[in-house]
Amino acid sequence: MTHNNTKILVTGAGGQIGSALTPMLRTRFGAGDVIASDIRDDISPALRDSGPYLKLDVTQPDDIRRTLEEHRIDIIYHMSAILSAKGESQPQLAWTVNMNGTFNILEAARNAGVRRVFVPSSIAAFGPETPREDTPQETILRPKTMYGVTKVAGELLCDYYVLRYGLDVRGCRYPGIISHETLPGGGTTDYAVEIFYAAVKYQEFTCFLKPDTMLPMMYMPDCLKATCELMEADFDRLQHHSDFNISSMSFTPEELAAEIRIHIPEFKIEYEPDSRQQIAESWPRSIDDSAAREEWDWKPDFNLATMTEDMLRVLGERHTRGALGY
Ligand code: SER
Repeated sequence: MTHNNTKILVTGAGGQIGSALTPMLRTRFGAGDVIASDIRDDISPALRDSGPYLKLDVTQPDDIRRTLEEHRIDIIYHMSAILSAKGESQPQLAWTVNMNGTFNILEAARNAGVRRVFVPSSIAAFGPETPREDTPQETILRPKTMYGVTKVAGELLCDYYVLRYGLDVRGCRYPGIISHETLPGGGTTDYAVEIFYAAVKYQEFTCFLKPDTMLPMMYMPDCLKATCELMEADFDRLQHHSDFNISSMSFTPEELAAEIRIHIPEFKIEYEPDSRQQIAESWPRSIDDSAAREEWDWKPDFNLATMTEDMLRVLGERHTRGALGY
């Protein structure tokens, strides 16, 4: 049987990126054609009620195969992952979810004739031996976290499926993503999201990184833009596939706090660095994304000032309605 509409599956749809990506895909491609999936039960009503939702554990190959066949999926956005800090407390789980999950998705996609797969990588693919300023596209990839290990291996695995099987797999190395839909969980860049909720609600925040720890970051609208534009890029123009560096802004906790203080002058920040400091210090401070700019015209819209203003506006309005949920 043939069908005309493009059918999309999002794994990890309840996560930080999935919960913003899914509604955007539903608006663009039709709510009924975008299937949200996640392992968690506490999926938000907004996601559950705005289109099809199913529970899916990406470590179960038969369940993935059945889902692809039943829903005749054309495109997959594979957003399930255990992030860096949680991965250090449960390295075996991080390997299972990130590595086996990606392998299961690629195998099922290949066998089901899926047209295109998105698998994100991360700045966590880099390590302490990588040049930290303007980190090049082609460079040393020797991460020291299990999350990073799975991201490098995942990039290689995805590129293998492109070369060996002609499966169209694409991905970019996301920096820390800042958003106001769903709080991230278990990452090293999470402070840059939580700080906004704390600033709006309590006008103070205790940061788990040192004041001068610079990391590459990106606002969610740019993250969604990069994801969609890479997925829509002309395959023939792509020299890379699963490992594009993408960049938007870099800042330290003290720079972010100063930017927040422009809007909330009484905002106070304290520092209590923990084990995540070591992870952050093994990652780049800034990223060279010229390959993405050349091969699919990547260009971000937000900087530190415009992102901060927008975050505080959205969360401020939500707090006034008593719906901040933090
Ligand atoms: N945001 C992720 C983390 O901190 C990096 O990809 O783990």
